[in-house]
Amino acid sequence: MTVLDGKKVSNDIKAEIAAEVEKMKANGEKVPHLAAVLVGNDGASLTYVGSKVRSCKRVGFESTLIQMPNTTSELELLKKIEELNENDDIDGFIVQLPLPKQIDTQKVLMAVHPDKDVDGFHPTNFGKMALDMSTFIPATPFGILELIERYGVETQGKHTVVIGRSHIVGRPMSILMGRKGFPGNSTVTLTHSRTKNITQIISQADIVISALGKPKFLKAEMVKDDAVIIDVGITRVPDETKEKGYYITGDVDYENVKKKASYITPVPGGVGPMTIAMLLKNTLLARERHRSRS
Ligand code: GUN
Repeated sequence: MTVLDGKKVSNDIKAEIAAEVEKMKANGEKVPHLAAVLVGNDGASLTYVGSKVRSCKRVGFESTLIQMPNTTSELELLKKIEELNENDDIDGFIVQLPLPKQIDTQKVLMAVHPDKDVDGFHPTNFGKMALDMSTFIPATPFGILELIERYGVETQGKHTVVIGRSHIVGRPMSILMGRKGFPGNSTVTLTHSRTKNITQIISQADIVISALGKPKFLKAEMVKDDAVIIDVGITRVPDETKEKGYYITGDVDYENVKKKASYITPVPGGVGPMTIAMLLKNTLLARERHRSRS
């Protein structure tokens, strides 16, 4: 069994990006600039965005954090996005999800200019991804592909079962694993809350990618011997004995499933850190594209 060590790989990627930034500086070029918009004060979102901004500093990027109150109207947010679209100093930006309920998420994501959409959530970029065109691939799926690639996990001809059809993880992952090439060339089943016989389908999987958000949903008896297990779940479970008042757990019953798996991602330290590294990679790409346009 091999642990897919997202913490280590993400540090390698950050070091590679930092080296690129050093080269840019040495050539007197502008460094990449990422902006993040956070609306409201959701605890998990605050943590994620804080971590994204800190990672920018670590690799030498410029970063801007824009915090807006929970009562922000859709129009106010759309105005802010327009400002960011037009600000030539900013190469890419993200709007952290989820958004407060008075705001239509789809409308907001469509307002982000596709050239600055480093999350890859705009329909133009999502469509390009589905058509094998060069684009920004959403950071979490991109991070999973990178882990698979760097560890040389075989995907060709394998049966990949994706659990969860979210626009951020499950849906793009199902498209990417079926694309031509490596990682890809996999036969994909996308399962969700309305899937019948989900346990039977999972038992046939060579690769399981779980993005459900249900702690310890995936048990050892549900998976095939030597299956590859990718755990995208990050759930905060309340626990008074912990300093923060909660602990983080994934969708997978890790201690038991790891005995059967050929490769497995831990939580924390698996897919999570990869997401941030790939956001930085997309921002570097956005800077390079921006430079070649201007
Ligand atoms: N919320 C959870 N994951 C993500 C992500 O990858 N990007 C953004 N913008 N919001 C998220």
